[in-house]
Amino acid sequence: MTSNLTGRSFVKEIDFEPAELLYLLDLSSDLKEAKRSGTETRHLTGKNIALLFEKTSTRTRAAFEVASFDQGAHVTFFDPSGSQMGHKESIADTGRVIGRMYDAIQYRGNHQADIEELAAHAGVPVYNGLTNEWHPTQMLADFLTMHEASGKPYNEISYTFLGDLRFNMARSHIVTAALLGSDLRLAGPANLGPPADVLALAAGIAENTGAKITVTDDPEAAVDGVDFVHTDVWVSMGEPKSVWEERVSSLKPYQVNAQLMESTGNPLAKFMHCLPAFHDTNTVVGAQMMEHTNMPDGLEVTHDVFESSASIVFPQAENRLHTIKAIMVATVV
Ligand code: CP
Ligand code: NVA
Repeated sequence: MTSNLTGRSFVKEIDFEPAELLYLLDLSSDLKEAKRSGTETRHLTGKNIALLFEKTSTRTRAAFEVASFDQGAHVTFFDPSGSQMGHKESIADTGRVIGRMYDAIQYRGNHQADIEELAAHAGVPVYNGLTNEWHPTQMLADFLTMHEASGKPYNEISYTFLGDLRFNMARSHIVTAALLGSDLRLAGPANLGPPADVLALAAGIAENTGAKITVTDDPEAAVDGVDFVHTDVWVSMGEPKSVWEERVSSLKPYQVNAQLMESTGNPLAKFMHCLPAFHDTNTVVGAQMMEHTNMPDGLEVTHDVFESSASIVFPQAENRLHTIKAIMVATVV
């Protein structure tokens, strides 16, 4: 499969055709295999990649850095307070400066409008490492992982996403499942339901791809027969601490626990999470919230499910590397 993506930004999934996403997924597999077998070819020698972070990160930063090093490129990491952007310099001006020095830019921040503005002014590919609206690099990793774990083509995968259906992870799953023709069931309470415009967008795409996107407030019905059960944190980066209590009470019925995994009726069903996850008390926030809300077994996922043989969260995290590498290899000029 070939596709010419040279010079393209990846700021949201819907800017790409299904065939282009499939090309990136195939390239990710090839690059993963090449790294494993010690036959990786360097396509980015002498290139410079800027990593602009307005929110914290472990996986996304690590994946962009290691992918760059593996491919012979150099990186500069700008931490959430490490540049003038937003404080003393506009996004547009930052894009015009950074774009003259670097061959590509990764941006993680709050508003999609900001990364669209950056991409409009940078003159080099801009990659969305997460905004409140979309998390497209995560989608490539999630779909590659589901394909590897099930052996199924993307349009035969069925999965459930439970939790906050308004935010980046759910929104991205809705459009990516639509683009790749998958069967996605969303489960969450009405007060955290998916945005109507994103569902409408997905319905339009699904007419051509055969995807099936359904929404329910019944967690058990949502997981019946699926291959994968996904969730995400219940309170996302950038949201105030004050929402925790209400969020836990709304989302408690959607916790991924052993009983819910059992309700899939599929002994091969796998658990997935973009991470970080609140499954034990070994984090400051997790410990506080689990104690405060009286949920000793975990928040969005219980510790036993997280640590079970059904959990593929670490191969999923590793696939951030191979997929992010594919994006850069395919687009850097
Ligand atoms: N999943 C993910 O984006 O992780 P980080 O926030 O650690 O980058
Ligand atoms: N919804 C989460 C995803 C983290 C990768 C957040 O935005 O914090």
